[in-house]
Amino acid sequence: MAEIRIRNTEERIQGEEAVRAFLEQQEVLYEHWNPSKLTEELQQKFVLTDEEKQQILATYDEEIKELAERRGYKTWDIIALSDATPNLDELLKKFENVHTHTEDEVRAITAGRGIFIIKGTDDVGYFDVELEAGDVISVPEYKPHFFTLMDNREIVAVRLFIETEGWIAHPFADEKFAAKQD
Ligand SMILES: [Fe+2]
Repeated sequence: MAEIRIRNTEERIQGEEAVRAFLEQQEVLYEHWNPSKLTEELQQKFVLTDEEKQQILATYDEEIKELAERRGYKTWDIIALSDATPNLDELLKKFENVHTHTEDEVRAITAGRGIFIIKGTDDVGYFDVELEAGDVISVPEYKPHFFTLMDNREIVAVRLFIETEGWIAHPFADEKFAAKQD
């Protein structure tokens, strides 16, 4: 289940209801899929063949189509990242910049873990959403954020898009955030 860490106060929010309530206040969609629908092998595999990616999409076909119909997504795919990914460090460096998109960013984690760092309302500031298998999140359009891996550096997620152009990252310069990282 996802956990929240508020960066300014180090406060942690745990438990499905509290996490959902917090994310709802921040206009971040949070849902849950059953992670054990996936075969045990695929729950622990981070280098995937095309057939295995198709198998994951087929396993969650019902969930994907329901979400897509409800929220207007037209295409979806699988992203898999691990230390076996070529240039993982460079990729992560590219990811780890606060940015926005013109459409929402949806991820359904099917294996591994990951973190969204999101700019919350002024009273909250930046917060981390630590995600694990089964967690489904949508960061709204124009909401500054970035994504990175957790210490285990392994994740598989379904990405859903309205149109692929909507996913272009627009840098969001925020000196306050950069200063906090030092
Ligand atoms: Fe993004």
